[in-house]
Amino acid sequence: MCGIVGYYGTKDAVPLLLKGLKRLEYRGYDSAGLALLSDTGIEIMKKAGKVMDLERVVDDSVLKGTIGMGHTRWATHGEPNDTNAHPHLDQTGKFALIHNGIIENYSSIKTYLEQKGIQFRTETDTEVLVQLISFLYSENGKSFEKAVRKALKQVVGTYGIIVLFADEPQKMIAARHGSPLVMGVNSGEYFIASDASPIVDHTREVVYLEENEYVLINESGHRIKRLDDEKELNRPTSRIDFSIEEIEKGNYPHYMLKEINEQEHTITDTMRGRLRLDEGSVHLGGIQEHLLRIESARDIYITACGTSWHAGMIGKYLLEEYAGIPVHLEYASEFRYRNPIVDGKSVIIAISQSGETADTIAALKKAKDMGALTMGICNVVGSTISRETDCGIYTHAGPEIGVASTKAFTAQVSVLFMLALHFGRKNGLNKAKGVQLAKSLAEIGPFVKNIISNTESIEAIAKDTVEADNFLYLGRGMGFPIALEGALKLKEISYIHAEGYPAAEMKHGPIALIDEKMPVVFLAPHDKTFEKVVSNIQEVKARRGKVITVTNKVTKELEKLSDYIIEVPTPHSWIFPILSVIPLQLLAYHLAVLRGCDVDMPRNLAKSVTVE
Ligand code: G6P
Repeated sequence: MCGIVGYYGTKDAVPLLLKGLKRLEYRGYDSAGLALLSDTGIEIMKKAGKVMDLERVVDDSVLKGTIGMGHTRWATHGEPNDTNAHPHLDQTGKFALIHNGIIENYSSIKTYLEQKGIQFRTETDTEVLVQLISFLYSENGKSFEKAVRKALKQVVGTYGIIVLFADEPQKMIAARHGSPLVMGVNSGEYFIASDASPIVDHTREVVYLEENEYVLINESGHRIKRLDDEKELNRPTSRIDFSIEEIEKGNYPHYMLKEINEQEHTITDTMRGRLRLDEGSVHLGGIQEHLLRIESARDIYITACGTSWHAGMIGKYLLEEYAGIPVHLEYASEFRYRNPIVDGKSVIIAISQSGETADTIAALKKAKDMGALTMGICNVVGSTISRETDCGIYTHAGPEIGVASTKAFTAQVSVLFMLALHFGRKNGLNKAKGVQLAKSLAEIGPFVKNIISNTESIEAIAKDTVEADNFLYLGRGMGFPIALEGALKLKEISYIHAEGYPAAEMKHGPIALIDEKMPVVFLAPHDKTFEKVVSNIQEVKARRGKVITVTNKVTKELEKLSDYIIEVPTPHSWIFPILSVIPLQLLAYHLAVLRGCDVDMPRNLAKSVTVE
């Protein structure tokens, strides 16, 4: 939700900031703006729309300077228009601020400031913060740094911010609470951003700001402090671990298609060095120190949002089946406000591509406070969840930019398969079976390649169904979470209404919707659910629904019942969930393209949801 970028150095800041904003655009793309600081004051320019709309109107004869900041917005308070776009100025026009997060008590602060005669121009919560800083500056001894600290102590909510002040034109302050901030350092130059992607062009040396910390940059360097402590902190730099190529689109028309294609390698990358083929087991370095506690857990909670929650459902099914541990699957947004039965005998697994989802972080904190051991399954190295958990497993899928998650999902599911195999082996799964399962995971690459090479036949199905207003996705067992994920992909990027359902539940409601206009996607792996799924297909066919079947083995009966068949051969049917989601990603992709949708930046969505 919102991307922020700042530059402090000797180069012309505008092109640098615009490029940085493009890298962060996946975080929000309804409006964008820039602020430049110089001896003559602060100049800002902002525009509703995408970063390229801002770029078109930027006048670099006005916007000049070597210190500046930029913002790309996902609106929370106030509609996305030029006025509500960031940066925001205080009443005097001397303070400028960009913000990612939500100021929850903005209304009471606004009323207070209005009573003091301060006039507001926007509907945003962010303007309240910059006005408060300005107010506290004039009320409390005119110290820029103190005013920022004091204001941040008064606000409730979340923020990643950068603040500039015209009267101190050699300073930049950035602070975080609940929203991520990374600082790139390169001999006298500083880059601040919501994530490392705008920084990697310039330096690989970064410092991740921790919760409730701020950094002040000036001519003599930078100082990091906690908001509640005067002591200066000494933070060593870390190295960014991805390359520029990984965050560029290359020859692909969309990031999403690039990322779907990358799965041929990313799934294997996730498992690289972790599978023990001769033992039929797994080595997961990131949880090694806590294995005993995890193995003796009374119960496991898996918490996540969106696509990651769907991966969590696969994890629940696998862990219960192979490890014999009861697993509760929880939407993070629900878990955080319920009274779950969690204590020191529980383990909580937070699954998150970004590692920054506000609800997931809050659920994790709650479980930690209740005594649970916390484990993260994250893609972004150094993200908040990866740092705040007791242990974890990185998915190593590389940066995912397309808003609709694809390769991160298959990587999460791969990790969960490895976890299930690990705990399965501890809990009675014999070595021969373990070896067979581990081998099927290790051999997955060519099977992924085979699916991706069939993209034309999936595109043909998309062409035939592009007029449909609704889709149904049905599956049983492991097919159910994949049905949910297939439906989510479709609605996210094509805006076609789609529902995922357990196939057997169809007769309790959704069957009423079926007619010749309704495409129904069935997940039909050859496992213990196969015959039952075939019966459900019969029921749809009897009502003239359009059947699209995804299966790992085509049978005569399936051929007869299905209007379209997508064959997904598997080395072993247990990994059907990892493979069968890929054609559903491609189907959603082709439908969205055919309908002229903005695949990488679908309306109203954002990739990293740092507000609750
Ligand atoms: C947003 C994204 C989804 C993602 C979800 C959870 O809704 O658009 O693709 O699944 O957030 O994100 P996380 O980073 O925690 O996996």
